[in-house]
Amino acid sequence: MKRSFLTTLLLLFALGPLFAQTSQYRSEADSILALMTLEEKIGQLNLPAAGDFTTGQAASSNIAEKIKAGKVGGLFNIKTAEKIRDVQRVAVEESRLGIPMLFGMDVIHGYETMFPIPLGLSCSWDMDLIERTARIAAKEASADGICWTFSPMVDISRDPRWGRVSEGSGEDPYLGSQIARAMVTGYQGDDLTQPNTIFSCVKHFALYGASEAGRDYNTVDMGRIKMYNDFFPPYKAAVDAGVASVMTSFNEVDGIPASANRWLMTEVLREQWGFDGFVVTDYTAINEMIDHGLGDLKLVSAKALQAGVDMDMVGEGFLTTLEESLQAGDISEEQIDDACRRILIAKYELGLFDNPYRYCRVEEADKIVFSAEHRQEAREIATETLVLLKNEGNVLPLQKNAKIALVGPLAKNRENMPGTWSVAARFPESVSLFDGLTNVLGDNADITYARGANFVEDSLLEARFSIFGKPTYRDTRSAEEMIEEALEISQNADVLVAAVGEAAEMSGESSSRSDINLPESQQKLLKALVETGKPVVMVLFTGRPLSITWADQNIPAILNVWFAGSEAGNAIAEVLFGEVNPSGKLTATFPQNVGQIPIYYNHKKTGRPLAEGQWFQKFRSNYLDVTNEPLYPFGYGLSYTSFDYGELQLSKTQLQGNETLQASIDITNSGEYDGQEVVQLYIRDLVGSITRPVKELKGFQKIRLAQGETQTVTFEITPEDLRFYDYDLDYVWEPGEFEIMIGGNSRDVVSKTVDWQK
Ligand code: BGC
Repeated sequence: MKRSFLTTLLLLFALGPLFAQTSQYRSEADSILALMTLEEKIGQLNLPAAGDFTTGQAASSNIAEKIKAGKVGGLFNIKTAEKIRDVQRVAVEESRLGIPMLFGMDVIHGYETMFPIPLGLSCSWDMDLIERTARIAAKEASADGICWTFSPMVDISRDPRWGRVSEGSGEDPYLGSQIARAMVTGYQGDDLTQPNTIFSCVKHFALYGASEAGRDYNTVDMGRIKMYNDFFPPYKAAVDAGVASVMTSFNEVDGIPASANRWLMTEVLREQWGFDGFVVTDYTAINEMIDHGLGDLKLVSAKALQAGVDMDMVGEGFLTTLEESLQAGDISEEQIDDACRRILIAKYELGLFDNPYRYCRVEEADKIVFSAEHRQEAREIATETLVLLKNEGNVLPLQKNAKIALVGPLAKNRENMPGTWSVAARFPESVSLFDGLTNVLGDNADITYARGANFVEDSLLEARFSIFGKPTYRDTRSAEEMIEEALEISQNADVLVAAVGEAAEMSGESSSRSDINLPESQQKLLKALVETGKPVVMVLFTGRPLSITWADQNIPAILNVWFAGSEAGNAIAEVLFGEVNPSGKLTATFPQNVGQIPIYYNHKKTGRPLAEGQWFQKFRSNYLDVTNEPLYPFGYGLSYTSFDYGELQLSKTQLQGNETLQASIDITNSGEYDGQEVVQLYIRDLVGSITRPVKELKGFQKIRLAQGETQTVTFEITPEDLRFYDYDLDYVWEPGEFEIMIGGNSRDVVSKTVDWQK
């Protein structure tokens, strides 16, 4: 690409201060490096866990002694500004060189003010809103001592058995990339020297969401074309957005665990994508390479450093073996210096050398953390993430004067509302559905409650997910007794609201499930409720797509609420009563049954595709016992109103080179409520040098339409939108025919074809 002299000059002018600052940090880091002993340099690469919250097998010990000896570069998951100030003081005043430490935390979907889980947030399809959640999280966390968050998690996943789908943004690389950018920007702002911005860490690089059989930490096996086209884009988007750090994943990539994978950490990340921040491993990921079969701790630690890892989370492989490896000539001092320099530069960028306590602002923390204002935002944001899956006969919205029987294990449970990965949440202060319904109805509330069912019948299974301050309050009565009570209170009710689904920790890390049906205990409760003949509303709490085929066939109204955060109950109640019209759209496909997995909208066609509308054809790609269709497709979600899509208008059907195609469509709100619609653009490349997906999301717009209003939505399409990585991994577009599709979900689209030549 040729740049004019003027553009170059302008670019230099604009980026000049940034380069100057970076090189100043570099030279300052170098002057510290010159003072450091080898032991101190290696110490900077060490990231122990504080022990307040741990996920792995090891918690770190003797941290204070290590800090004094200059053997700690940062600490994570320690909470409160006061505590952090004390620990920082040890580093600054009692270690030889007084180098300040980084303080990290898993601030995943909010700090104390919890927003919906990331999978829920993604269903808002609203980038400003998502950015705002990260901004608020950064403000709260940074006042309370934290300068670095291990977020966003951008692992694409097509397997809802994997519990960590809850932490990501679903199955689509395009949407995932937009969200990655929004979150990094939200955390880091446009000026990292501001004390209320924090470092973001994109994770888990790479392909963690593709573990075989959906079992956490399992093997990944993927070809590079798929990596580049379907799984890498969100990580790259985070890098393009200037993310300060990257976390390695636990899994192997092409036979080499990510943390020792030089191709991944250096060639792709640094050389191809130009990443210049630092790389931290996931929790004990270096040590785990012993179990992967790559060698002993000394060997795997050396491999990690050589691959491009800068910081070792918890495992202390670097701390305990790098010196020896250096003496043996297996690694070089330059490699240690490079890693150490990156950590030091990070500390300069965060302003820690100017003021090591700049993130410990107790008074500000008292004022803003979990403030009424932030909770109000959380409430409004949560309403945008709920997905109406079914609403037969307009059972919803509920009448405010209706007599409601509220049942289910999630009806009165506050602690489970924030969902998984909510380490700093105030669990008992979260709003349950019961609280929310009562708050919205005030004195007019006519709600009776019965537990109805335990989460699961098996108490041992329940113990496995009743953790991290999220009790499930198991009821000791028999299943029959609980159902009987639910039926009793149903007798006087106009409508039965069933708060069912997963407990918060049934999804998340180390929470894979081989069966993604509703648990039997809750299924029985639902059947009993349906048999009363009264209208049933299923409020579905979940951290993953579930297979709820029976519910879809038998229950008139289903509202999927994920885990909606601190204000969950209020937000759900507002939607149930129609104060807010639901507008969320799924970002992960719901399968009919677990056997269809992996099932995702942007699949390839195969050489023996099933004819459209067919269930089964012999010698075609299909199942004997279930159709190929999902239960609910990607992009799907209803509203209390209805939207009519007009005819698709294209500005041209023959295009050449860098022309722009305009695709427009009229959308009319034809129902009885004002509402929002996410209008989605999909493109299919009909003939390619490699096989291409049946459709790919390439744009979306969330619009607000008053009752009766029509709006024209226009997408501008350029050859940039047609690009993909070809067989040689060149990022190209190929001339030919393209199908342009627009719709309110990935299944129901209107389409036209264009011919686009070079
Ligand atoms: C998780 C990471 C997390 C880390 C630190 C690991 O078990 O995989 O996502 O950031 O723990 O808590």
